Amino acid sequence: MIHKKYVNSVIMASAFGMLFSVFTPTNVSAKEYFTIKNGELVRPSGYREWIYVGAPLTPHDKNNGKANFPEFHSVYIDPESWEHWKKTGEFRDGTILIKEMNLVGSTSAPSGEGYFMGRFVGLEATIKSKREFPNEPDNWAYFSFTVPPEHKSLKQTTKAEPTANCSACHEKSAKDDFVFTQYYPVLEAAKANPKKAVGGEW
Ligand code: HEC
Repeated sequence: MIHKKYVNSVIMASAFGMLFSVFTPTNVSAKEYFTIKNGELVRPSGYREWIYVGAPLTPHDKNNGKANFPEFHSVYIDPESWEHWKKTGEFRDGTILIKEMNLVGSTSAPSGEGYFMGRFVGLEATIKSKREFPNEPDNWAYFSFTVPPEHKSLKQTTKAEPTANCSACHEKSAKDDFVFTQYYPVLEAAKANPKKAVGGEW
């Protein structure tokens, strides 16, 4: 009796396992690094451990004291999308790029006169997702967690920006599919080139 029960449960378990494998996507690599909840993007965490692709700088002192995006922009791409970019030279559906901003701190260091990173002042993101943003141009949506005017805290969740605020400039002037790869030498080098991507070749 016990033996029969055991056999039955083994049969049930393997039947369930088969069903499970039939209905679960086998492509486990399609991982996403963002969460949309009630129509808002939850502030991503962990992005400083993603792939760092470049650091544009728009200092206040070169923008009439008021740069739109002050001042250092550290840009990161999620690891899965980096893998895809290295192989194909394209941004996959599900790509997220983060731009974290820092003020200029000091302008002088033992290495010389210049611009050195100061405190954090803001966080922006862009995501390409057909599922989430079917109506945005090429499915890219734009987000800002920055809280002006003090720029001392970040929102925990945020709605996509109206398309006109961000997308048009990216569409018109960015080199690769709405992304300003012309300012990210790491992405430029890595485009469909796994060897250059990791610094194995210059
Ligand atoms: C007038 C043009 C312009 C507008 C408007 C604009 N951006 Fe950008 N954005 C840029 C440029 C140029 C870069 C790359 C150089 C830099 O960071 O200064 C960039 C880079 C970014 C990046 C890094 C990834 C990428 O696509 O290159 C994010 C994220 C971003 N912008 C978010 C936003 C958000 C959010 C808005 C709207 C609130 C916005 N941008 C509006 C010009 C613009």
